[in-house]
Amino acid sequence: MPALETPRLLLREMTPHDAPPLHAVLGDEETMRWYPRGFTLAEVDEWIARQISRYPSGAGLLGLILKSTGQLIGDCGAVWQEIDGPAELEIGYHVHRHHRNQGLATEAACAVRDYAFTTYGCDHVVSIIRPENLPSRRVAEKNGLTLDRVVFWRGYDHCVYGLAKAGAP
Ligand SMILES: CC(C)(COP(=O)(O)OP(=O)(O)OC[C@H]1O[C@@H](n2cnc3c(N)ncnc32)[C@H](O)[C@@H]1OP(=O)(O)O)[C@@H](O)C(=O)NCCC(=O)NCCS
Repeated sequence: MPALETPRLLLREMTPHDAPPLHAVLGDEETMRWYPRGFTLAEVDEWIARQISRYPSGAGLLGLILKSTGQLIGDCGAVWQEIDGPAELEIGYHVHRHHRNQGLATEAACAVRDYAFTTYGCDHVVSIIRPENLPSRRVAEKNGLTLDRVVFWRGYDHCVYGLAKAGAP
């Protein structure tokens, strides 16, 4: 999967060496409050391995590297999800809480959206978000997605935001 670059971020494939900084993100209970719990380091190792297995297909979550420091501060990418019908390409993101509300998730998500519509060749993307997760919903909106439907998925209601590529049928 190619690296993507934005003004402040490099989005690149993760390697097993990224586990400690990613654990600072995904091991944080506040960041993971929409999940059953924060991840252990072993679960982060598995998470990274799952992304590495996806990269050859052109999908997967990439590491978010802050260009000013070289630090990994989160992840963002596109992953196929079965929600309530045929699999859809979901744009997802996690940002370390020390780096929130600076537009970084939006910057990354916009780059992934553009990648999905151009290089990857998909004509529709979604973001699947718990209704209470207002920051994530806001990122989806700033990424151009609009609320399409609410579904009961993985035990909870989820908003499905969607965006079709311009000119797609
Ligand atoms: C969702 C998340 C990735 C956003 O990262 P971020 O880098 O802070 O996002 P941005 O700065 O690009 O945008 C955040 C927006 O949410 C808004 N926001 C923040 N807290 C909010 C709140 N409590 N209520 C409403 N809006 C809120 C910000 O004001 C900003 O919108 P604005 O630019 O219109 O002011 C980050 O909060 C996170 O990692 N959350 C935990 C993991 C998660 O929920 N991931 C998504 C799963 S679906």
